[in-house]
Amino acid sequence: MSSTPVEDELRRQIADHGPVSFRDLMLAALYHPRFGYYTNLRGFGPDGDFITSPERHPAFGWLLGRQVLEVWQALERPRPFRILELGAGSGALAEPLVRFLRSEGVSDLVYTLDEVSPTLRELQRRRLTDPAFRWNGVDEPANFVVANEVADALPVHRAIIKDGHLHEMLVTVDRSGELTWTVAEQPHAALDAYFQALHVLPNEGEVMDICLELENWVESIARRLERGMALVIDYTASPPRDSLLTYYRHTLGSDPFVRLGEQDISARVDLRTLVRFGIARGLKAGAVAQRGLLYNLGFPQVQAHLTGMTDREALAHLVDMNAAGGQIVAVFLLGGMPEGYKPAGAVGRDWPEPGEVPSLPPNADEADFLGQWREAFGPPDGGRG
Ligand SMILES: C[S@@+](CC[C@H](N)C(=O)[O-])C[C@H]1O[C@@H](n2cnc3c(N)ncnc32)[C@H](O)[C@@H]1O
Repeated sequence: MSSTPVEDELRRQIADHGPVSFRDLMLAALYHPRFGYYTNLRGFGPDGDFITSPERHPAFGWLLGRQVLEVWQALERPRPFRILELGAGSGALAEPLVRFLRSEGVSDLVYTLDEVSPTLRELQRRRLTDPAFRWNGVDEPANFVVANEVADALPVHRAIIKDGHLHEMLVTVDRSGELTWTVAEQPHAALDAYFQALHVLPNEGEVMDICLELENWVESIARRLERGMALVIDYTASPPRDSLLTYYRHTLGSDPFVRLGEQDISARVDLRTLVRFGIARGLKAGAVAQRGLLYNLGFPQVQAHLTGMTDREALAHLVDMNAAGGQIVAVFLLGGMPEGYKPAGAVGRDWPEPGEVPSLPPNADEADFLGQWREAFGPPDGGRG
């Protein structure tokens, strides 16, 4: 397989200074200012490498809108109501969410998008036309922070347990010129400390992927959350055992050394530790699997509304316990919410019958089938008049 500019740069670094941390490799592969994967990402789905829940179906953003609306009501309708989305991707979550809030009469709204990728920022600007959207002021306080499948893009250290301690696995070049792992002789103090706090010592020889940046990331959310809620939704591994995933053109892989800068690398998130960091910052915290979150927000109503094949398939995936529904977990972090407040996404509630739920365009086969069906069984005038 041919080399990439990111790989060439890493090889030079290894030749000049010795083995590099996997964290530095992941950082360069995803965020290199010219050749990083996210730096050049043009979208998801057919244009990208994996399909996130909001990309799969706009009802995901619509349902989260109910949770956001509930926070707006619980805070007695702050003016303006400020939402911050971290890692907003193509805007597939933001668009239906804001449309829902508008339909519910939330008029004084500021929705800030924090996005590291210049190509995706451009896509968002073209797609998101509501005046609520803006791309500056990401450090200002927010009443609602949402981060869907973003924490798994934070770079991780890789380590192995040896004699009861975590030794960092570094990246080097072997005799035949291939990138390969090498284990540091001395234990890594910060990685050891991470596991002491977790009170779980993995077995000898187990491999762990540890995000030392998670604490600062949670801290930066807590700082912005004076009164409100953060919803962090992600694939999880707690403790973070062997949790790397790669994606290239819709194919899941696990070799992070290939196609550096051209394939996605992510690490399932240690959400238990994330919750602990949130509590240490004075936030209240809770968690529920994505399936539970969506059901609590009224998923059956959406299913009842959207009966086309394309919609049904996409919706089923969102709540499939063997896929996104079970592997993704939503963490609620609450700061300054009224006493006794419990998020609807965690405990459920009776929802009013929805007026309109966003749907996917039917695919060609389905549209054809529906056309034939209507022709055969529809009213003679085509339903007009
Ligand atoms: C897997 S995608 C998820 C996109 C979107 N949230 C969704 O659910 O469709 C991760 C997104 O986070 C962005 N991202 C990654 N690291 C980031 C960072 N440190 N700050 C802001 N955005 C980041 C990426 O550019 C990408 O848009």
